[in-house]
This record gives sequence, C-alpha cells and structure tokens, in this order.
Amino acid sequence: MKKISWAILGAARVNEKLIPAIINSKQGELVAIGSRRKNAAEECVKKYAQEYTESIKCHTGFELILNSMEIDAIYIPLSNEEHTETALRAINNKKHVLIEKPMAIKSQEVGLLIDAAKRNNVRIMEGFMYVFHPQFDRIQNIINSSILGEINYAHSMFSFPIQAARHYRINRAIKNGGGALWDIGPYAIHTIRSCFKENPIRVYGQSKLNEHGADISTTGMIDFGLNKKATFDISFECVRRSEFEVFGKNGRLKCPLVWQPDNLPAKIIYSTEKSGLKEEVVPTANHFDLEIDHFNAAIIQDKKLKLSSEDAIWNSKTLEAIQKSILTKEWVTL
Ligand SMILES: NC(=O)c1ccc[n+]([C@@H]2O[C@H](COP(=O)([O-])OP(=O)(O)OC[C@H]3O[C@@H](n4cnc5c(N)ncnc54)[C@H](OP(=O)(O)O)[C@@H]3O)[C@@H](O)[C@H]2O)c1
Repeated sequence: MKKISWAILGAARVNEKLIPAIINSKQGELVAIGSRRKNAAEECVKKYAQEYTESIKCHTGFELILNSMEIDAIYIPLSNEEHTETALRAINNKKHVLIEKPMAIKSQEVGLLIDAAKRNNVRIMEGFMYVFHPQFDRIQNIINSSILGEINYAHSMFSFPIQAARHYRINRAIKNGGGALWDIGPYAIHTIRSCFKENPIRVYGQSKLNEHGADISTTGMIDFGLNKKATFDISFECVRRSEFEVFGKNGRLKCPLVWQPDNLPAKIIYSTEKSGLKEEVVPTANHFDLEIDHFNAAIIQDKKLKLSSEDAIWNSKTLEAIQKSILTKEWVTL
C-alpha cells in the first residue's frame, strides 16, 4: 500500500503530538524534520520519537526538505506570519501541505495558497485538529437536530498564562502575527463560526497590548446579522479556559473542554425546557491522530477534506477584521 512520506518544517512544541500521529498512522510515515535552529530537529526527534532517530532525517534549514522528491506532504507549525512563504514554496514543489491555524494572517494570502494548490494539484488544509474529535461532530449533530432552536448566541473562552520561555510569541505587533488573536483566537472564532449558517457581517475587538503591540488579552463581538451574535474572550494572562457555550430559543449547550480534551473524556452538557439537563460523555479520542488519518486518506483516496478552502478564507477574513477593529477601536464591516 502506498504510504504518504511526511516532513515537518519547524521544531515546534506541538510536534510532541504530530510526530506520534504521523508515525503511528497506517497510511503515512515521517521521513524528515527541519529546523532553522542548529540541532533543534535532532532534539525534537530524540524527545518525541526516540526509536526513530535512524529513520527520520534531521536538517538545519528547510531547503533540502522543500526540494526533496521523496517527500509527499509537509506539516507547517511555524510562527503565524511565516506560513505563507513556506507553504507556497512547498505547494509549488508539488507537496501537499497541512498548515497550522491560522493558514495565513492575511485573507489575500490564504487566497494565494488556495490558488497555488489548485494549480499544482495538491491538497492543503488548515490545522484545526479539534474538528476531528468526535466531540465536534456530536455538537454539530445536537445543533443541527434543532432541539436547541435556531442558534442566536454563542460564546467562547480560551486562555492560559503564557510562560516566560514562550515570550517569543508575543515579541512582535499583532499586525505582524504576534499575540493571542493569531495564536489562540483562531480556535475561539472558528468554533463560534461553526455554529452559525451565516458568515459574520461585522466585528468588534478590544485588546490589552504589550510594549511590542502584541495582544495579551482580547475580548470581542461578532455580529452575524438577523439578530445572531457571539462574544469571545482570549487571554495569555488568565487561568486556563477552553470553553464554549451556544444558545438557541429552546435550549443551551456547553462544552467545558472544547480544544484540549487531550486524554480526558470530553463532556457535552445541554438542556432544553422539554428534556431538562443532559450530560453526555464523549469517549477519549486523539484528534491529532484523527487529523493525520483524514489528511492521508484525502490524498490517497482523493476524498473531500473536512475543512474547506472557503472556511479558511472566512477564518482569516474574520480575524483580519477583528485585528483592524482592535487597532481602530471601531466596528469593522466584512
Ligand atoms: N503546543 C501545543 O500543544 C499545540 C497544540 C495544538 C496546536 N498548536 C498549534 O501549533 C502551532 C505551533 O505551536 P507551538 O506551541 O508548537 O509553537 P512553538 O513551539 O512556539 O514553535 C513554533 C515555531 O517557532 C520556532 N521555535 C520553537 N521554539 C523556539 C524558540 N525557543 N525560539 C525561537 N523560535 C522557536 C520553530 O521553528 P524553527 O525550529 O525553525 O526555529 C517552530 O516551528 C500554533 O499554531 C499552535 O496554536 C500547538
């Protein structure tokens, strides 16, 4: 059976999850890792895939990987503002690319990536791993069943205190990809968007910026029109929260661990006037493994991707508009 040969560009912390996901996938194998920092790729393999130090090639820099004819697919967990340039090079070298969220920090760049992928006949996908957890489909299922009534309000909260060692993520202005909006904001916004059939029509955001102009905390509103709205709160200086709540005329649904169920069973709590309070436990699942299996299958069996290009464009359009609102202190129409 044909296996997808994967490489990773960037010795990122998330590789702790992605390296085992690729190695253990039935249809994929990890053949290389590159990092711009000397010995960082080797350290990464030693840490997360000790038994594979012989088979995974480690490189300083990305050139050899991008030009290799052996590699079919590339995972990009680089800093937000670095996604476009690296992904474009990979796509133009006929590689399928899984790009961490946000796909790019400008919607116009997302458009460039999508066009390049079409021209080169390769698949690209934004890395929202949480949609591959069975919890996501169950939430959609409850919303689509109409028991809550038409959804008219949603709220999401994502936060954790950022450690000093990670301060390189907040050392540049928000417009250059630094801060919470581009880091954890994509999850909070994507989850909200997935509950409404409409696209946002206008947004408002307010932030606490640090001395570099990166947002440390952002609170915002998204107006979907037709009296449907959402609020979100993201922060690098608040206790850990990974929560989401959605409301309709007839009921409400809450998900206390939406993006980080990790090895814990995920819980969905919902209530309607008719049914009373219900609590469902979704069995433990590894959404990183499921994401890689999905991407491999899409390539090999030419299957439709769960996350569409249109979705990636609307994510970045919404985030871009919130960024503009933060900087202008005004509502921004999309
Ligand atoms: N961490 C998680 O558990 C997790 C979970 C889900 C999703 N994600 C997503 O995955 C993406 C990457 O997150 P991450 O936490 O893994 O990022 P990260 O560790 O900060 O790494 C991002 C990039 O920064 C460079 N880098 C790493 N350590 C560095 C350091 N000490 N100094 C300077 N540069 C460094 C690396 O490139 P070079 O090696 O080329 O320098 C790396 O590719 C984000 O979009 C995040 O939201 C993360």
